[in-house]
Amino acid sequence: MRTHYCGELRGADLGKTAVLYGWVDRRRDHGGVIFIDLRDRTGTVQIVSDPQRTPDSYDNAGSLRSEYVVKIVGQVSLRPEESLNPKLPTGEVEIYVDSIELLNGVNKQLPFQVCTSEYESVREDLRLKYRYLDLRSDRMAKNLQLRHQVVKAMRRFLEDQENFMEIETPILTRSTPEGARDYLVPSRVNLGQWYALPQSPQLFKQLLMVSGCDRYYQIARCFRDEDLRADRQPEFTQLDMEMSFMSVDEIIELNEALICHIFKVVKGIDLPRPFPRLTYSDAMAKYGSDRPDTRFGLELVDVSEIVKDSGFKVFSGAVSSGGVVKVLPIPNGNDAVSNVRIRPKGNISNEAVAAGAKGIAYIRVRENNEVDTIGAIKDNLSEAQKQELLEKTGAKPGHLLLFCAGDTDTVNKALDRLRLYIGKELGLIDSEKINLLWVTEFPMFEWNADEKRLEALHHPFTAPYPEDINDLKTARAQAYDIVFNGIEIGGGSLRIYQKEIQEKVFATIGLSPEEANGKFGFLLEAFEYGTPPHGGIAYGLDRLVMLLAQEESIRDVIAFPKTQQASCLLTEAPATVDDKQLRELQVKSTYKPKRKDEG
Ligand code: AMO
Repeated sequence: MRTHYCGELRGADLGKTAVLYGWVDRRRDHGGVIFIDLRDRTGTVQIVSDPQRTPDSYDNAGSLRSEYVVKIVGQVSLRPEESLNPKLPTGEVEIYVDSIELLNGVNKQLPFQVCTSEYESVREDLRLKYRYLDLRSDRMAKNLQLRHQVVKAMRRFLEDQENFMEIETPILTRSTPEGARDYLVPSRVNLGQWYALPQSPQLFKQLLMVSGCDRYYQIARCFRDEDLRADRQPEFTQLDMEMSFMSVDEIIELNEALICHIFKVVKGIDLPRPFPRLTYSDAMAKYGSDRPDTRFGLELVDVSEIVKDSGFKVFSGAVSSGGVVKVLPIPNGNDAVSNVRIRPKGNISNEAVAAGAKGIAYIRVRENNEVDTIGAIKDNLSEAQKQELLEKTGAKPGHLLLFCAGDTDTVNKALDRLRLYIGKELGLIDSEKINLLWVTEFPMFEWNADEKRLEALHHPFTAPYPEDINDLKTARAQAYDIVFNGIEIGGGSLRIYQKEIQEKVFATIGLSPEEANGKFGFLLEAFEYGTPPHGGIAYGLDRLVMLLAQEESIRDVIAFPKTQQASCLLTEAPATVDDKQLRELQVKSTYKPKRKDEG
C-alpha cells in the first residue's frame, strides 16, 4: 500500500517508512551513492541508495533510467545541512531506499526529457503529439491541478453557498446562435438531417428557468468552428450559469463573490470589491476596446472637435465623413519612440496599418510646451489648435501624441492595438497586477457590413433596457462582460422573457416570423407558458485558468487541446472514415483535393 505521495513528504515524517510509487525524474551517481528524484503528480522527492547503508537496493538503483515506473520502500531521513533544498517543498528530506521494484521500463527513446531545464524549449508540436509525457512535466501537472482547484472552488461556492444545481444539457442538439460556425453531426436514423454540437447551452439553460429550476450551472463543453488563436479552441469549457428573478446588479454581485472565492481558495488573494465597471461607450472612447487592459493608463482622447476645421485634409476629411480623430498620448514618448518607427513601414505605423488604419500622424511636445509638428500637420494646424490639443490631451513636455483619423471603428482598433503594443514595450504593464472589470450597457446590435444587416452583439436573447425599447436599433442591452487583464473571461445578460419582445428582436436582425419559428419556435412557445424573468453568464474556464496560471495560451491549461489547425496531434483527429460509414449516413464529400499542378 502506498503510504505517501512523493511531493507530500516533510521533515515531520522523519523516521517513517515510506512506500512510494512514481516515475524516475532523474538519476544521478555521486561518488558511489545513487540519487533518484522520484516523481508523481504531487512533485518529486529525493531517494538515496548507498551501498553501505542500503546495499539491497543498490544494484537496482543503478539500472534505473528516466521515466521508469517504480515502487520504492525506504526510510524518511533529514538531509544533511549542505544538501537542504529550500526551493523544493520536499527539500528537507530524503528517503534511504530499502527496496526498489521496477514496475515498467521505457522501451523506446524518449521524444523529449520531461525533467530537464530544456523542457521549456521543447517544440509544442512534439509536446502535443506525446501529450501524456508532457503532462508529467512540473509545469503541466501544476496547470492541471490548478484547473481542478478552480472547478472545485466553483462547485463548492455555487452548490454549497448559493444553492445552484448542476444540470447536463445535450451535446447532440440544434444550432445555437452564438455567431460562430457549427460543428455538424449527420443522423443515421433520420437520413438527411443533422445535429449541431452546442456553441453554448444558452437555449437549454433558459428553458431550465421556464421549468422552474431557478439556479442552474454546468461545467459545459462548447463547440465553435471558428478561426483559432491563443485564447480560442474549437472545443472549450464554460462555467455556464443561469438564474431567475435577479437584476443585473444582483447577478454582478453574486459573480463578484464567486470570483473572489476562487481567488481566495486557489491563490490566497483577497480581491478588493466591488470590481470597477465601465460602460461600453466609455470603454470604446477611452481605450478603443470593449475589453480594455486597465492595468496601465495611456487613455485615448477624441480631438475631432479641435481639428475638424484644420487645413489638414486627413483630419478634417475624416470628421466631415462621420469619422473621428483620436490621440494616443504617450508621456516621455519623445525619448522612447523615434520618428522612423512612426513613419510608413516603421513598426509603429505597421501595427496601425495591420489594424486597418492608413497611417499615424504625430506631434512631439518639447520644453516650454513648444509643439514640434512633422510633415503635413506642420503647416496645417494653427497655434491655437496646437495649444487646445495640449490642453485636451493633458500633454506635457516630453509627450509624444500619436494621431489616427478615419471611421470610428478603424481608429479604435488601430489605437487599441498601438496602446497595448506601446504599453508592453515601455514596460507599463505590471504582470503581477490583477485587474478585473465589468463592461456594461453594450449596444443590442452591430452592423454586419458583409451581410448588410444588424446582428445581435451578444446573442438575440439578450434583453434591451426597458427605457430603450421604443428604438430597438439603437437600444442598449442589459448585458455585461467581465474582463481580466484585457481578456474577456465571461459574458452574460438579462434575457428577453416575453414573446413579443423576442419577436421584435428577431425581426430587427432580419429573421422573418417563419424563419424565427423554424429555428426557435420551441423557445417562443415556451415563453407562453409562464416564463420567469431570468439572466445568466458564462465564463471561459480555459481562459480564466490560463490567466491564473500566468500562461499565454489556453492550450497550456487543457489536457488534450487542438492545434491552430484544429487537429489533435496525439490521436490524429480529424481523420478520414470508412466509405461504409459514409454510405450508412448517406453523406458524400464534395471535397476535391487540389491537383499538384494547381500549386
Ligand atoms: P460567449 O459567447 O461570450 O457567451 O462565451 C462566454 C465565454 O466563453 C469564452 N469563449 C471561448 N473560450 C475558448 N475558446 C473559444 N472559442 C471561446 N469562445 C468563447 C470566453 C467568453 O467570454 N451563452 C453565452 C453566455 C450567456 O449569455 O450566458 C455565451 O456563450 O471567455
